[in-house]
Amino acid sequence: MVLLSRKATFNSHGQDSSYFLGLQEYEKNPYHQLHNPQGIIQMGLAENQLSFDLLESWLAKNPDAVGCKRDGKSIFRELALFQDYHGLPEFKKALVDFMAEIRGNKVTFDPNHVVLTAGATSANETLMFCLAEQRDAFLLPTPYYPGFDRDLKWRTGVEIVPIHCTSSNRFQITASAIEEAYQRARKQNLRVKGILITNPSNPLGTTMTRAELDLLINFITDKEIHLISDEIYSGTVFSSPGFVSIMEVLKERNLEKTEVWDRVHIVYGLSKDLGLPGFRVGAIYSNDPTVVSAATKMSSFGLVSSQTQYLLSVMLSDKKFRNYYTAKNLKRLQKRQRKMVSGLEKAGIGCLDSNAGLFCWVDMRHLLSSNTFEAEMELWERIVCDVKLNISPGSSCHCSEPGWFRVCFANMSEDTLKLAMQRLKSFVNSTTSSKNKSHRDLKSLTKESHIEKWISRLSFLSFHDREQDER
Ligand SMILES: Cc1ncc(COP(=O)(O)O)c(C=O)c1O
Repeated sequence: MVLLSRKATFNSHGQDSSYFLGLQEYEKNPYHQLHNPQGIIQMGLAENQLSFDLLESWLAKNPDAVGCKRDGKSIFRELALFQDYHGLPEFKKALVDFMAEIRGNKVTFDPNHVVLTAGATSANETLMFCLAEQRDAFLLPTPYYPGFDRDLKWRTGVEIVPIHCTSSNRFQITASAIEEAYQRARKQNLRVKGILITNPSNPLGTTMTRAELDLLINFITDKEIHLISDEIYSGTVFSSPGFVSIMEVLKERNLEKTEVWDRVHIVYGLSKDLGLPGFRVGAIYSNDPTVVSAATKMSSFGLVSSQTQYLLSVMLSDKKFRNYYTAKNLKRLQKRQRKMVSGLEKAGIGCLDSNAGLFCWVDMRHLLSSNTFEAEMELWERIVCDVKLNISPGSSCHCSEPGWFRVCFANMSEDTLKLAMQRLKSFVNSTTSSKNKSHRDLKSLTKESHIEKWISRLSFLSFHDREQDER
């Protein structure tokens, strides 16, 4: 007897993609400075662990927010019962103020247009449910966040049709690429309901240009379709050019209160900008009241706990703290990104110029044995299994060119990043020197024990360095 439903076993979840396989591989042998210095370093998780101390010191100074107290009095019972799917008004107010601030207060947001969801994952899926039927399609520029296959397609039956972007123009969206994707969808008998973008982009770590945003608005106006802008990294833009929200462009073009205004929806969340993915806080912001109403009903499947809403409403209402946090967090991220870029440079590896996000889009095309996705997987396997770094291959992000990898930099200590870059450098050196010596291709290089040796040597060196730094 078949125990599971067809839906539960349907493979559009993408569980067997290299993105998820890499995460599983890491779980089997995670790196630890002392207990497992030869383990795999996790560089496949877009987490921000650089500013926990700031949040922790705020929490220490504000015990009432954690202890479910308001003005010194317990509101435990009130919070324990609260499950209104409209959310806590004070939290929604604090959240929209924070969102506006991130956008330099060039736009404001109405808390009544917000639907709270358990993370941005739930926000994206809810929007798919509300806007598209099974076998309708959304167009997504590539490369895109690997989780979207699960989030947008799995339970909704919606199809993703890629808009192929290439390195020739820094993976920017072009009119011809959108039109080509639209026509391809039509040929597959799919009705295109909209476009979904991530701005800033995961995995590129770049913000979209005004020209791209204009192009998107023109396209959705012309085709009468929706635009979802996942802006989960909007407060994680650490250098110029700054972030321009789609709302800002609509406003500038005087498109408020037009049909197209109602067809643009924003996804946001606190998993990245506040580094709180475990708190599961996401939001949909829509200009269309019917979408807000439908999504609010859907949100019963993934509410944000009232305790979390309360804590964060107090934290985000503290304007002084939120400004301090954002400024400091961005400085740290920028410094960290520079460290990674220079570490990669030392290893002879380049990456796309980026100004946002928790990762770099790294160009390893020169390390491929051939210009194919098979060669990309071969290289990826060696990086995960031999070099012991879990990074995400471009193919898991549906990139149309082999040889690109997403490498995260904010989920580890500086020492660990240093070690990761040393491992990579030695790998590149050994690969190139072996290549030069014997003119063999990458495939024929098998030197498991040799790699083990240099990983342990690097771990030792890194400890040695740190000891010296600390002295
Ligand atoms: C672009 C994008 N959207 C949504 C998500 C999911 O976020 P959450 O943890 O809030 O569900 C992620 C997480 O990496 C992401 O990168």
